[in-house]
Amino acid sequence: MESISFPEGFVWGAATAAFQVEGATTADGRTKSIWDTFCEVPGAVVGGDTGEPAADHYYRVESDVQLMADLGLHAYRFSTAWPRVRPDAGPVNQAGLDFYSRLVDALLEKGITPWLTLYHWDLPQTLEDKGGWANRDTAYRFAEYAESVVGALGDRVVNWTTLNEPWCSSFLSYAAGVHAPGRQEPEAAVAAVHHLLLGHGLAVEAIRAQQTDAKVGITLNMYPIIPADPEDPADLDAARRLDGLQNRIFLDPLFKGEYPEDVVQDLTPYGFTKHIRENDLEIISTPLDQLGVNYYAEHFVSAKPAEPAPVAEGRRPTGSPWVGAEHVSFPSRGLPRTDMDWEVEPDGLKKVLVRVAREYTDIPLYVTENGAAYPDAIGDDGSIADIDRLNYIDGHLRAAWEAIQEGVDLRGYFAWSLMDNFEWAEGYAKRFGIVHVDYETQVRTPKMSAMWYSKVARGNALAA
Ligand code: NOJ
Repeated sequence: MESISFPEGFVWGAATAAFQVEGATTADGRTKSIWDTFCEVPGAVVGGDTGEPAADHYYRVESDVQLMADLGLHAYRFSTAWPRVRPDAGPVNQAGLDFYSRLVDALLEKGITPWLTLYHWDLPQTLEDKGGWANRDTAYRFAEYAESVVGALGDRVVNWTTLNEPWCSSFLSYAAGVHAPGRQEPEAAVAAVHHLLLGHGLAVEAIRAQQTDAKVGITLNMYPIIPADPEDPADLDAARRLDGLQNRIFLDPLFKGEYPEDVVQDLTPYGFTKHIRENDLEIISTPLDQLGVNYYAEHFVSAKPAEPAPVAEGRRPTGSPWVGAEHVSFPSRGLPRTDMDWEVEPDGLKKVLVRVAREYTDIPLYVTENGAAYPDAIGDDGSIADIDRLNYIDGHLRAAWEAIQEGVDLRGYFAWSLMDNFEWAEGYAKRFGIVHVDYETQVRTPKMSAMWYSKVARGNALAA
């Protein structure tokens, strides 16, 4: 393979999220998020795992930042926990903000740029008790919380992401019930989509009101949707519906100021339109400075219903996130798969980047997440030769580079994840880190992928 260089100034980073790494769920005034509650539900999370101890990042922030510096990372993407900053969505908790202030200072001291995500799924439980994202008021509470974070950190943080993967916070959380709050109510899921986007728009305004040089974006998880049989009208329609629910329902309002007509029609039986008020779309489509793309896999979709999957022992039954297209299936095309059972298809990353740049916007794009879970074997000498993960990242970086050659303004890449962490409903069993975490001792061991990635970042290039 040829050696390839990335554009000058390309940002090489790694990402985490508060609930997945911090632990310390009751420290310094933090109150419950929907994930703390969800972890208590029998069968909701594999192994009954919880947000404790996670990677104990809350108490290890200085050494973790040192680790990032040792790896030569340029940027660290993390999220602030709403229930730390405004416990119970009430008044500001200075102790919570102080933690993030210390983190930001530590990063800047090492020359690492902080990339702050305001919402990575840890909604205060108090707000869920009032309806959660299905309740319009949550959008206003989110803007209020955003304002508090920007007020405290806006003198040092420039790169802001409002929401991480609103598809997960709506469809996976309120329709499928796979994620907290575990509701299986399609009507609530479509309400959540609109209220999340409204919250995003209001937060953008709140950030800009306080910080004129802020660079504001949102992170979407995008999937190319491939019809199993491109000649079969039923498969084509299933692909259209899924593309609507996964990609266009977010991209269109953000960049075109309107929801796609076919999606509105598909979702009308679920009461989607009744949530949309005058001026909402104007707020939602407030111009952004950058867009975050999370990419893991493609969806190869068939309209033929799948055999109902058996519920794994000890797990609670969950539903489908595909509101109005619940019976689609995802046949195998024989591609290799990760430990999450997700297909490995690097070319899909190129496809989503090119599509966004051609069809939606010319603002700078960043891959804010990409990576893979594999069962890591620890060698006798303690080393972890995670060749599969290394190859996964290498392949996707080549695809990202090809997108750049096709004119996409891609400015950076963040590996998911800096370190092993709480993989939501999959608990600690799935490891995405380029750094291994021993949850008993909290010892960090950079895997082979981390050492390799470090070289890529330092050289701004992939070797032959
Ligand atoms: C997307 C999410 O943002 C992150 O929290 C999660 O761990 C990874 N994907 C892997 O599933």
